[in-house]
Amino acid sequence: MNQILEAILQRRAIKVFDPVEISPDTREQILHAARLAPSSFNIQPYRFYWVETPQMKNEAARLCFGQSPAATASALVVAVADIGSWKATTESELAWMRTAGFSETKIAEHDRRAKSGKWFFIQGWFGVFGLLKWTILRALHFWKTMGTLPVARQGMFKWATKSASLACQNLMIAAEALGLNTCPMEGFDGRRLGRLLGLSGKYHEIVMVIAIGKKSARHVDHPQWRRPLAATVRIV
Ligand SMILES: Cc1cc2nc3c(=O)[nH]c(=O)nc-3n(C[C@H](O)[C@H](O)[C@H](O)COP(=O)(O)O)c2cc1C
Repeated sequence: MNQILEAILQRRAIKVFDPVEISPDTREQILHAARLAPSSFNIQPYRFYWVETPQMKNEAARLCFGQSPAATASALVVAVADIGSWKATTESELAWMRTAGFSETKIAEHDRRAKSGKWFFIQGWFGVFGLLKWTILRALHFWKTMGTLPVARQGMFKWATKSASLACQNLMIAAEALGLNTCPMEGFDGRRLGRLLGLSGKYHEIVMVIAIGKKSARHVDHPQWRRPLAATVRIV
């Protein structure tokens, strides 16, 4: 079978891990695969915190309510939606384009797109500008086919979480392909974990914590259940 498909079909949420060390090389391969996931405007609005030092890991596992995957994992990867980095990312992509041999026309085009793109993100004081944008778009929508923009911080986090989640899935499949196993978790105290990692209350929200390690023989794989395809998919 195709190896990518094999890793996808093999992946399970693992509840007990053996204490193995993940080499820096493997860690880098996994994180590199994660960040190759597609993202909205290529803004990559997320960060990963790879928690592996015993003291930090124990504390993070405690904040995951001591769940067994967290307590036994070799590392905990905290995936964070980041709505504060879009400007820096856009600028850094432009700087890269200038050194990577892109034509002046391409660079100017990208610069123009980045400048107009900021209207997508700006929410203004207390989200007033975001609400105004939404109202105008809603009115225009009566006449025109168009999409919507994220409104307020919650809308921005929803936007960032989509890209962050795709990166998380890439990370889990890459780990599987490299002979490791994972368990995604949303059972954690987000405020305390955020404080432990020094996250910004304004720009950051933890999307999930991924326990990563080597499946233990003590883990029992229950049969994997999914709804019938017809309940999930509609072919029109
Ligand atoms: C967003 C998300 C949050 C989850 N949270 C937890 C969790 O807190 N603890 C846990 O043991 N498993 C958690 N899981 C794992 C699911 O329970 C598991 O993926 C599901 O039961 C299907 O099992 P499978 O992944 O082995 O097919 C989570 C999965 C996702 C995608």
